[in-house]
Amino acid sequence: MTALPQERRVLTAIPGPKSQELQARRSAAVAQGVGSTLPVFVTRAGGGIIEDVDGNRIIDFASGIAVTSVGASAEAVVRRASAQLADFTHTCFMVTPYEGYVAVAEALAELTPGDHAKKSALFNSGAEAVENAVKIARAHTKRQAVVVFDHGYHGRTNLTMALTSKNMPYKQGFGPFAPEVYRVPVAYGYRWPTGAENAGREAAAQAVDQITKQVGAGNVAAIIIEPVLGEGGFIEPAKGFLPAIVEFARENGIVFVADEIQSGFCRTGQWFACEDEGIVPDLITTAKGIAGGLPLAAVTGRAEIMDAAHSGGLGGTYGGNPVACAGALGAIETMRELDLNARAKEIEAVMKARLTAMAEKFDLIGDVRGRGAMIAIELVKDRATKEPHPGAAAALAKACHAEGLLVLTCGTYGNVLRFLPPLVIGEALLSEGLDIIEEAFGRL
Ligand SMILES: Cc1ncc(COP(=O)(O)O)c(C=O)c1O
Repeated sequence: MTALPQERRVLTAIPGPKSQELQARRSAAVAQGVGSTLPVFVTRAGGGIIEDVDGNRIIDFASGIAVTSVGASAEAVVRRASAQLADFTHTCFMVTPYEGYVAVAEALAELTPGDHAKKSALFNSGAEAVENAVKIARAHTKRQAVVVFDHGYHGRTNLTMALTSKNMPYKQGFGPFAPEVYRVPVAYGYRWPTGAENAGREAAAQAVDQITKQVGAGNVAAIIIEPVLGEGGFIEPAKGFLPAIVEFARENGIVFVADEIQSGFCRTGQWFACEDEGIVPDLITTAKGIAGGLPLAAVTGRAEIMDAAHSGGLGGTYGGNPVACAGALGAIETMRELDLNARAKEIEAVMKARLTAMAEKFDLIGDVRGRGAMIAIELVKDRATKEPHPGAAAALAKACHAEGLLVLTCGTYGNVLRFLPPLVIGEALLSEGLDIIEEAFGRL
């Protein structure tokens, strides 16, 4: 097959006629609860381009929600996964093991923060990894309570819905939710009432106070946080917040879990976002970027905590599937070879410069934030009141889609436009995508 040209090409309305035909079939056959941001039906994807059935080539600022950091058809992922596919597709690691699983666990031990002894267990999805981190923390501490944060997102299974902050669309009508989950404030600098400079210290004090008074530190098995909150709006907790929470966890024998499912694997310009403040989590959950688009997730952490669950207590039929493990080894090889941490930092520099300049022109932009290739703008009706403007986020996304640029929205208030390009996107596509965003503002 010929390589996918790295050029935007808009041949039809987006979605075009063939996509619309498929969408009609889809509406009849697929449950409406499964939505799609942009219903163009894909034939090929790679680098920074997604090609659809109508021949349109769309610039990808989404990476399948922070998954295809190495691209959606990375050579090493395809090569290794194809070879594995030809050898065997599955045996179930819990029945007869294979080397790929062990090799991924070894790579995770090497790449995750901290030089202590580490072990891993592999799963299929991010939500499953988070669920298992809770199981492991409970087995280790013999406690039950789990503390999470405002604006946090951890998945759509029953326990992870309980851990997730936002009601619509994730939780509405799906309760009752798992018990023993407690939510406390996070240091959301842009919206912190006394100013961003106080957010880290004050939010940590409030969180600790609430945990101590309302839950009892001695009842808490785990504190789980995304080092950069993803679905909640690409919120980087203000400096000092994460170290204070880690210190509180350490003092009280609580397992500190970093959910790096969205922020991990070079996305923020470091292997893991928690490295930014030198955080060494007890457990770390990973998925998304780990395997170049194949379904794989992991819990990695201190060997003595990971070994707390009894033999047979963790697992699942497909967890650590051999093809997905081969994909992960290919993705990690690509990240190392292309130094995608450095590339993410270059993307940050380009995006922040352009978006900051746009913020000088367009009052709608209340905040430009994020790290690496995990960048967002928060849109407001009024800079003084910071009243969220979800309508502007939706309109801008729609305008970008029509021009052949895929962007996503997020945020508790639905007013954040987020940009997650593959880390292998070319310079020209990156700046063309930013041009399209700027033009979309001009036309609002
Ligand atoms: C931080 C975080 N945790 C957990 C999940 C859930 O992962 P999955 O959709 O693979 O179950 C996500 C997905 O967006 C996420 O961003």
